[in-house]
Amino acid sequence: MPIIAPSLLAANFINLEAECKMLNESQADWFHLDVMDGRFVPNISFGPMLIEVFRKATTKVCDVHLMIEEPEKYAEAFKKAGADILTVHIEACKHLHRNIQQIKSLGMQAGVAVNPHTPVESLKDILADIDMVCLMSVNPGFGGQSFIPYTLTKIKQLRSMIDEQLLNVKIEIDGGVTLENAPSIIDAGAHVLVAGNTVFKATDPKATIAALKAL
Ligand code: DX5
Ligand code: ZN
Repeated sequence: MPIIAPSLLAANFINLEAECKMLNESQADWFHLDVMDGRFVPNISFGPMLIEVFRKATTKVCDVHLMIEEPEKYAEAFKKAGADILTVHIEACKHLHRNIQQIKSLGMQAGVAVNPHTPVESLKDILADIDMVCLMSVNPGFGGQSFIPYTLTKIKQLRSMIDEQLLNVKIEIDGGVTLENAPSIIDAGAHVLVAGNTVFKATDPKATIAALKAL
């Protein structure tokens, strides 16, 4: 059974209380929270202040995806806000190993995200130190984009690397996940499905989450 992580970026922000209640009552495992700085990605979303609000609204895992430059400056603020998993982009970190150690020493799980152009081989020497890889299946910055099919090849490559080293690293797929493509994503070896528009724009979000969970 996959871990389902709805992305609140696609939620109705005027009605966040109801959206959180819906997720809490659903089979969703995690809240996926997308932080964008307008520098690493061409969009700005929200920061620690809103993470704190989500933290108070749920007991589910808060999976915070930082699409920001210099994430080391903010790791402590996100820990204080209540993040359980903190994911940084390989493309935004000059000293990735140091960033990962910082996240772990703050008591959070460490994730590393890679953009569609970044080969999974670039994770080889860091894989044993992290809890999760977030494979971006769209270019980060916006919800509602189409899944890039080559991601399926990357999932298989990464899964072999993880299994060969007998590691316990989760593969999270982020961007353009739908009920139609989710089965092939899981078949390829993914553990976590992020879904924004597929969940929040559905006529029955809870049933959609249940359908993803049942895959
Ligand atoms: C994209 C974000 C995603 C996004 C996914 O930069 O990291 O988490 O919200 O949204 P959908 O599922 O709509 O592609
Ligand atoms: Zn994300």
